[in-house]
Amino acid sequence: MSALKGKSIVLGLSGGIAIYKSASLLRRLTHDYACDVTVVMTKSAQAFMTSLIFETFSGKEVITDMFESEKDIVGTRHIDLIQNADLLAVIPATANILGKISAGIADDALSTMLLVAKPEKIVLAPAMNKNMYTNPHVQRNLQQLRDLHYYLIEPETGDLATTQEGWGIGRLPDEKTLLFHLEKVLSTQKKTPLKGKHVLITGGPTREPIDDIRFISNPSSGKMGVALAETAAKLGAEVSYITGPTTLSNPDGCTTQHVVTAAEMKTAVLAQYDKQDMVIMAAAVEDIKPRAPQTGKIKKSTIPEQLLLDKTDDILHILGKQKKDQILIGFSVEIENEIQNSIDKLTSKNLDWIIVNNPQQEGGAFAGDTNQVTMIDKHHESTSLPRLSKEQTAEHIWQYILATKE
Ligand code: CTP
Repeated sequence: MSALKGKSIVLGLSGGIAIYKSASLLRRLTHDYACDVTVVMTKSAQAFMTSLIFETFSGKEVITDMFESEKDIVGTRHIDLIQNADLLAVIPATANILGKISAGIADDALSTMLLVAKPEKIVLAPAMNKNMYTNPHVQRNLQQLRDLHYYLIEPETGDLATTQEGWGIGRLPDEKTLLFHLEKVLSTQKKTPLKGKHVLITGGPTREPIDDIRFISNPSSGKMGVALAETAAKLGAEVSYITGPTTLSNPDGCTTQHVVTAAEMKTAVLAQYDKQDMVIMAAAVEDIKPRAPQTGKIKKSTIPEQLLLDKTDDILHILGKQKKDQILIGFSVEIENEIQNSIDKLTSKNLDWIIVNNPQQEGGAFAGDTNQVTMIDKHHESTSLPRLSKEQTAEHIWQYILATKE
């Protein structure tokens, strides 16, 4: 299912300290995605790590030199390799190799291959010292590469390699993010059915305060929302992700906004509704809120015997009423009479799809890693998916939505 599966990749390594992360990335590519990876190392990359570890993880000879074998007709093998590869990824990409590409210099195996490959096939992950990264020459080169449609995985801001460097921009993103981008580029090459589409997805629970310390909420983890958002981004959509409080990282490739209460989520969603092509309300928006939240902390001695409650606004219902051309998709949490109750919600909220889950079923909904859902369309046709990981569930959901749209 993953666009990375079985792909032929050339992994270019230039000489930066972040190269240690590339060894583990290579192992994931060959081991988990059965990719055929050829590693190419520059001279300075070899000063940071020997080729042996990359040879072991790729199961192939590592290219370290332009003219390594007498049998080689100069450069031809490298050119064939690039022409047959699905992707050439330089991770990490130093200021030096970025400068060479933008100046069109080919003076070793990697820089030669980078000139042979089309920019659309090339992914560059700049990682370096923050002063180097912010240097105007490097910034100019990066801009030129962006303009020429090279795919850049932007570095992160955080703790840099050495204590002297401290905090700043230039850090190579973690493995999950690197894999996300490689997969995104490969699925873009394949097909991007959501390219140019604006998709808004909500996820996670909301919290409704009792006082400044306590709140009413539910056990939603936000995993389903993240999985739907990342899948939509891989399919080419511009994704806005609005999430209640969770411990998860933001979904890759999306613009994420954090909210706490149902009222904040409503404001955030409505502010963006008009420009959306599709909205998926995967958030477990809390239905009830304390009528009069207290400031500070209610002392034990003054805890009231009763807590007065109000309903929160039903965001999806408001979206259904204001709907123009948007495709509107809701989730439904039901523990009995699931299908009929969900069809009632589909109708009353003016939805195109409703995705039903029963949190009491084994492996269903809320905090776990799996989900078992039934999708119901506006003609009340239903399709049940088996118990799957939330990522696989998200892929199936998008497949169904796209198949119906076409
Ligand atoms: N929803 C919403 N705003 C709310 C409550 C729910 O937008 N205040 C959305 C959820 O994100 C979900 C859908 O409505 O997509 C259905 O939520 P669910 O809790 O199953 O149903 P409710 O409409 O809240 O009805 P009930 O709790 O009575 O089943």
